[in-house]
Amino acid sequence: MAEFSERALGIQPTGVRKMFDMAGDDVISFGLGEPDFQPPQVAIDAMTKAMQEGHNKYTTTAGLPILRRKIAESWNSYESDMDESNVCMTMSGTNALLACTMAVLNPGDNILLPEPYFPLYAPDAVLCSAESKFYPCLFENEFIPQIDDLESLVDENTKAILYNFPSNPTGATLNIEQRDMLLEFAKRHDLWIITDEVYDRIIYVDEHVSFLGTGYENLLLVNSFSKTFAMTGWRIGYVLSPNLEAIGQITKLQYYIAACSNDAMQYAVLEAFQSAADYPAQMAIEFQARRDLICERLNAMSGVSCHVPEGAFYVFPKVEVEGMNSEEVAIELLKGGVLCSPGSAFGDSGEGHLRFAYTVGREDISRGMDKVASVLSRLRGES
Ligand SMILES: Cc1ncc(COP(=O)(O)O)c(C=O)c1O
Repeated sequence: MAEFSERALGIQPTGVRKMFDMAGDDVISFGLGEPDFQPPQVAIDAMTKAMQEGHNKYTTTAGLPILRRKIAESWNSYESDMDESNVCMTMSGTNALLACTMAVLNPGDNILLPEPYFPLYAPDAVLCSAESKFYPCLFENEFIPQIDDLESLVDENTKAILYNFPSNPTGATLNIEQRDMLLEFAKRHDLWIITDEVYDRIIYVDEHVSFLGTGYENLLLVNSFSKTFAMTGWRIGYVLSPNLEAIGQITKLQYYIAACSNDAMQYAVLEAFQSAADYPAQMAIEFQARRDLICERLNAMSGVSCHVPEGAFYVFPKVEVEGMNSEEVAIELLKGGVLCSPGSAFGDSGEGHLRFAYTVGREDISRGMDKVASVLSRLRGES
């Protein structure tokens, strides 16, 4: 048989999917990271209307100018002099990430990636024939990267660093001092910053701290409406940058990746911006109540400790069961009726942790945590 590319052979299915595929229908699922809400009704209605009105065609690659302007305006409090030329629509955050890595990485370059990580980052580097170097975001540092670690990894082939706050899988956010330290590091080494801020609207702190608005030009901000408007299945996102040349390069690449984003859907997202602006904040209120519940329950279990996340909808507790790794623990929990992801699915430094996405209602969280408590106490020989 003819051979497949090293690129295809060099990537594997993620550990999150592996557990998901093993699960039956009757489990309480803390597995996949998608809001259990419907998109705003106004967006659903606007999509139908747009299709009926004939918005079923290719759009320009960068996307609908009026939507891009709206997106740029939504970041006004961070960077005020942006408009539609600072935004390129994509078919999702996933697509935006690939376009960004393709725009800045050459074969032989390396990119600094967080670990534990969102499992698409390293394969994106493989798709660019580049190398990934992982900087640790450890429990003992509240999942915040340490400059010494970054300095020990960077070399003459390092072209970019990817930051992800609020983080999947840890839920960590940055304060301004931490952001500035990470920014200075990138400046010092003249790196591109790819900042994945898809959870910017799901936060439990006063304000999202962004890398945008810092005056740094080598910046590509990745975002998506999957989480903001609970539209994971719609597949729509964008890249935004203060650097117009960067947006030009991204738009050029994006033409060859996807031609353009979805026509009618762009009208639907525009309507969501206009008529359901407080939708993500409302969702975040419910997520915060769930976060409080799940963290309280987890922290009450022996051998389990978690930081209370300040954003996204994941909690990443340390779970100690002697003689078992995180995948083995996750499999036992699955047998006990609870689907979660082993920390090792997010890189080696995720070992010893589990990730729970609190994207189920509070009643299910309570029932799920009862099951987790009983399985863990059995595994720990306590019952
Ligand atoms: C950190 C992070 N970035 C990007 C994405 C991609 O989101 P989407 O492709 O649905 O826009 C996700 C999805 O889970 C994520 O958690």
